[in-house]
Amino acid sequence: MNHFYFNIPGWFAFHDVYDRAVALLGQDGAHFVEVGCWEGRSAAYMGVNIVNSGHDIRFDCVDTWEGSAENIDSTEKSELYDKFLDGMSNLNGECDWRAIRKESVVAAADYADSSLDFVFLDASHDVENVYADIQAWRPKLKADGVLAGDDAAFMGVREALIQHGIGVEGNPIVPSGGAYKSWILVPESMRKSWITPEPKSPDVATVEGGIVSAQEKLRKELEINACA
Ligand SMILES: C[S@@+](CC[C@H](N)C(=O)[O-])C[C@H]1O[C@@H](n2cnc3c(N)ncnc32)[C@H](O)[C@@H]1O
Repeated sequence: MNHFYFNIPGWFAFHDVYDRAVALLGQDGAHFVEVGCWEGRSAAYMGVNIVNSGHDIRFDCVDTWEGSAENIDSTEKSELYDKFLDGMSNLNGECDWRAIRKESVVAAADYADSSLDFVFLDASHDVENVYADIQAWRPKLKADGVLAGDDAAFMGVREALIQHGIGVEGNPIVPSGGAYKSWILVPESMRKSWITPEPKSPDVATVEGGIVSAQEKLRKELEINACA
């Protein structure tokens, strides 16, 4: 199936993360979740990847479709959910994707602990909501599942990661090649497989072959931003 995500508006820049999710975790019976979908640009990319994998992967798309404070105005709000359904319609009957129209943490409560293979967080970006999202979704992952999210370049996302001890010594993240610095929390045995071979962004930090113990880097960036 050919990709069509580029016809859908949005902020998607984490192709390398979604490519790896399907390649490394995409077995029959796998269960993936995207939290924060907007009109479906990233979800459509994942959906086509799933179809092309030939595997039977369930893909849940969680969003209120109410928008976030940083990316909505009242005109768009009423149309957002219909635009998402329309954007994803090429995938109807092609893969098992579902729209879950709920608040992130409310939706998380519907899943059993240790039941999910991959969760990607791209909903609100303020520290309180990102902290709550990580808290709600992290227990839902299998022991070898992967939690990831977008926009580690945002102050709120960085701070929430640090508050959760993500990116600290012994709990490193793998950076993506995307422009907005996605972060990937991967079980140790799988980390090397998740490194983007050719980072597209020149400022992606690479330490020991690409695995970043991120706390120092994030704190440095916080200091730089605080001085700016
Ligand atoms: C940055 S956009 C997602 C972008 C999308 N992944 C793309 O590729 O363009 C954030 C989305 O998260 C949703 N959102 C924000 N806070 C949320 C929450 N607490 N629960 C569910 N959805 C939320 C908004 O409605 C919005 O559609």
